[in-house]
Order: sequence, then structure tokens, then C-alpha cells
Amino acid sequence: MDTPSPSTRVALITLDGIADGGFAETEAVIAGDAESLILYRQGEAVRAWLNICPHAGRRLDWAPGQFLKSREGLLVCAAHGASFELVQGECVGGPCRGEALRVVPVEVRDGQVWLAP
Ligand code: FES
Repeated sequence: MDTPSPSTRVALITLDGIADGGFAETEAVIAGDAESLILYRQGEAVRAWLNICPHAGRRLDWAPGQFLKSREGLLVCAAHGASFELVQGECVGGPCRGEALRVVPVEVRDGQVWLAP
């Protein structure tokens, strides 16, 4: 029987559930594993990365869904302060400079955020 993967059918979050210019955290099944995701909204667009810092593998939020954003508009890892730009998720300062967060492709449809097929 051909059963579509549940991860592609379940919305991750509503677009309105993320403040414009802000972050949210949710879980999704990626390649069979439950993973924590960072979601970042900019207007009607949302980008997502695995919530795993390339420095020491820690989560980037200081409490679930609570992410730090610097005055320069960078995502800052709460563990040791690595900072990431919010287009590619590249680390531009701190202990893992030059590495990057792992992108998770998502799309916005019908006011909801979905894993991209
Ligand atoms: S785990 Fe993120 S900066 Fe060390």
C-alpha cells in the first residue's frame, strides 16, 4: 500500500504563529527522526533549519522556542554565542565561523508552514 509520509501532510505551524522577524520552534519527522526545527519568518516567507548548532551540537534556543536575535539581526546560539545570518544560516561569528546550520526546506501555503515535498 502506498502511504504518503505523514511529515509531508502535517502543517508545522500557522504563519501567524510566528511573529514577523521572529522565530518559532517546532518538531518534525525528518528522514525518520523527530527533529527540533528553528523557523524564522520574514514577511510572508519562512526559512527553517535544524535546531542543532554546528559548534557543539546543542540547541540554539535558551528555552523551548526562545531564540536570541542580535541587534545586527543575527541568530545567536544561547550555548556559546555563535551568530548566524538568516538567509543561508551561515555562522558569521563565534566558535563555528564558516560552518552553517542545516537547511530544512519549507513552504508557506494556505497560511500554514509545511515541509517542502
Ligand atoms: S553549541 Fe552553539 S555556540 Fe557552542
